[in-house]
Amino acid sequence: MNRREFLITTSVAALAPRVTFASTPTELVAQPVSAQILPDGEPATPMLGFNGSTPGPVLRTRQGDVFDIRFRNQIDEGSAVHWHGLRIDNAMDGVPGLTQDVVKADAEFAYRFPAPDAGTYWYHSHNRSWEQVAKGLYGPLIVEEATPPDVDHDLIVMVDDWRMTENATLADGFENMHDQAHQGRLGNYARALVEPNTPVRRGDRVRLRLINVATDRIFPVEIEGIEGNVVALDGMPLSALQEPSGLILAPAQRADIIADVTSSDQISFIFPTQDGPYRLGEIAVVGENTEREPSEISALPANETAPPDMDNAVSLTLTMEGGAMSRRMMQGMMGGDIWALNGQSGLTDTPFHLFERGQTARIRLVNGTRFPHGIHLHGHHFFEVGAENNLGAFRDTTLVDSGETRDIVCVFDNPGKWLLHCHMLGHQAAGMKTWVKVT
Ligand code: C2O
Ligand code: CU
Repeated sequence: MNRREFLITTSVAALAPRVTFASTPTELVAQPVSAQILPDGEPATPMLGFNGSTPGPVLRTRQGDVFDIRFRNQIDEGSAVHWHGLRIDNAMDGVPGLTQDVVKADAEFAYRFPAPDAGTYWYHSHNRSWEQVAKGLYGPLIVEEATPPDVDHDLIVMVDDWRMTENATLADGFENMHDQAHQGRLGNYARALVEPNTPVRRGDRVRLRLINVATDRIFPVEIEGIEGNVVALDGMPLSALQEPSGLILAPAQRADIIADVTSSDQISFIFPTQDGPYRLGEIAVVGENTEREPSEISALPANETAPPDMDNAVSLTLTMEGGAMSRRMMQGMMGGDIWALNGQSGLTDTPFHLFERGQTARIRLVNGTRFPHGIHLHGHHFFEVGAENNLGAFRDTTLVDSGETRDIVCVFDNPGKWLLHCHMLGHQAAGMKTWVKVT
């Protein structure tokens, strides 16, 4: 197909009635699966997945369309599905004990919600997530813009790590206290899983949707073989595009990159470690696209958001405490929780704060621990406040380094009970979570 025909086809498609993408299933079945995590030739690994695979199927719809998904639980313990980053109805948020009952083994639950924001999201188990996500219960969720940007390939790149035994099984000890008190459960094998993994051409313009699906690992990612920009973080378009170099993805964070392929050989995803570069994966480059006219990469259309009311914002502080080498560690050794937010571990009867619907809050996140934490708020996005007191990226998960203080500004306009927790799932397991209520 030449470029002209391509343009014609897309403009016809834009006029056609909205359709649900054929690739999106109407059912998600959690079940045991066998996955080729290690390189070909090594044994497959027994894991958990959705609809027969881990990662689960790509869920894709157009902005404003409704996801209608029957979740069936065929694993031998309770589960539930959380749609990470989507600003949806509270009853659909998938948090057992807060927004719904756990979906017991052999039971099912109907999830139905419109997708309000275009962008890159993901779904994952939110019951005993430190174990169920580690075992593979997650998948990508993509919401298309009304007019998607002009790219030749739209590729999902999930980065993950696994703790493998010599027999290619997942090591158990998902609640290992030493892990929980430090950085969480870190794997000994990491990969970038590309979907679909089809070759691209030099000169193609690609959209890469990076998602860190690891339970606890922070991934700095260097990408070789392309030239372009970060256009969105955690699904939400950036008004000022960023350089992809120095990109860091905390667990659950996403980055969309639009770039031109400059290599004639491969696009490489590299995880720089203390021991040198670790290759996470690549996309093959075959052939050349000579028809694409050079053009600027422009910002994606913004999703609709309520403007914060800074003059009347309530000021709150959320202090992270605990972990190895802290006083709270003693409690952990005696069977209590290792981590806390404002001195509280786990979900208490009263929320961290009760917001009136539409209220703006400026929350100071204080990391008094020796470890970084990726703090995630359900049902909302928030602005990261920059060094000049400016409102920066609009995210759902923010990485706060050890010793760092970071302010976020959020308009709490989505009614319901929403979790606020560390997305290092081992930390969450050991108490680092709270909740807010919006009336
Ligand atoms: Cu990605 Cu509480 O979730
Ligand atoms: Cu944490």
